[in-house]
Amino acid sequence: MDADFKRYKDMIDEHLLDFLPDIDHKTITLYESMKYSLTAGGKRIRPVLLLGACEFCGGDPKTALPYACALEYIHTYSLIHDDLPCMDDDELRRGMKTNHIVYGAGIATLAGDGLLSSAFEAMNMDMLMYLDDLGELKKRIKASYEISKGAGVRGMVAGQVSDLEAEGEPVTVEMLDYININKTGAMIKAAVKAGADLGGGDYDTINKLNEYAENLGLAFQVRDDILDIVGSVEELGKNTGADEAQDKSNYPSIFGLDKSYEKMEKHLDLAYQAIAPFYDNAEFFYHILDMLELRERDKERN
Ligand code: IPE
Ligand code: IPE
Ligand code: MG
Ligand code: MG
Ligand code: MG
Repeated sequence: MDADFKRYKDMIDEHLLDFLPDIDHKTITLYESMKYSLTAGGKRIRPVLLLGACEFCGGDPKTALPYACALEYIHTYSLIHDDLPCMDDDELRRGMKTNHIVYGAGIATLAGDGLLSSAFEAMNMDMLMYLDDLGELKKRIKASYEISKGAGVRGMVAGQVSDLEAEGEPVTVEMLDYININKTGAMIKAAVKAGADLGGGDYDTINKLNEYAENLGLAFQVRDDILDIVGSVEELGKNTGADEAQDKSNYPSIFGLDKSYEKMEKHLDLAYQAIAPFYDNAEFFYHILDMLELRERDKERN
């Protein structure tokens, strides 16, 4: 693992619970169920990207932690809800039983709600400390706006709705892109943009990082769909074959594995190109793309 990626991931893992509000002991089950999914593991790609973009743009990643953790709270909520019987109906996540299998669908739904609202509480708490420093406050408001937009009804939630509605339907390339851009791309883009805002990035840098993030987001979901077919439960920590079981319409199911690999590689290439003007300074961002390249053995299986 790249040294910067590890440093950011360690920061997240160490501080992930620090920004959760104190919860009344009467609702200890709520806290435990939220904590269960947060600490189950996870690659932490989104919060790591946020810290990386912040530092790349000249900021101190420590000061971006409330936003990075908020992003991971929202991502974890989206996974808990995504796994519910009324959505993808999955029983394994991050190598452990899904939240609703352990706590029941009601508590799992509320754990998701709790994580989502805790994210906004964490970001607002941080903003309250900068009321007398307009420059710093502005960066935080921008970051929080990007995160809300990415998570919301013009972002991740919109994509999840279309994903459900596309089940069993013969969808077009445009529709598949729409689903992937929103259900997955929006939170990845929010991570990079929020980080760049917090770091005080200039217009050109933010534009390039944005292009990087958009392509990374598309590649990330197509890769996830490929791995649902060719990956293993041990390496993924979630059950494979889940998309076929739910009759999901995605790149591999509509266009086959070959085209899906091509699509993923095209977007990884575009992401490389977007950050090429930064030369070696962007090593952290290159590393994330390298991590996503599927190994030859996966391609050979195809
Ligand atoms: C899973 O995201 C959901 C998708 C958008 C494909 P990750 O693959 O980042 O899952 P974790 O956070 O590492 O568990
Ligand atoms: C999930 O996409 C996207 C989310 C917003 C959670 P998937 O449904 O493919 O994610 P996995 O495969 O269950 O992790
Ligand atoms: Mg899903
Ligand atoms: Mg799913
Ligand atoms: Mg999937």
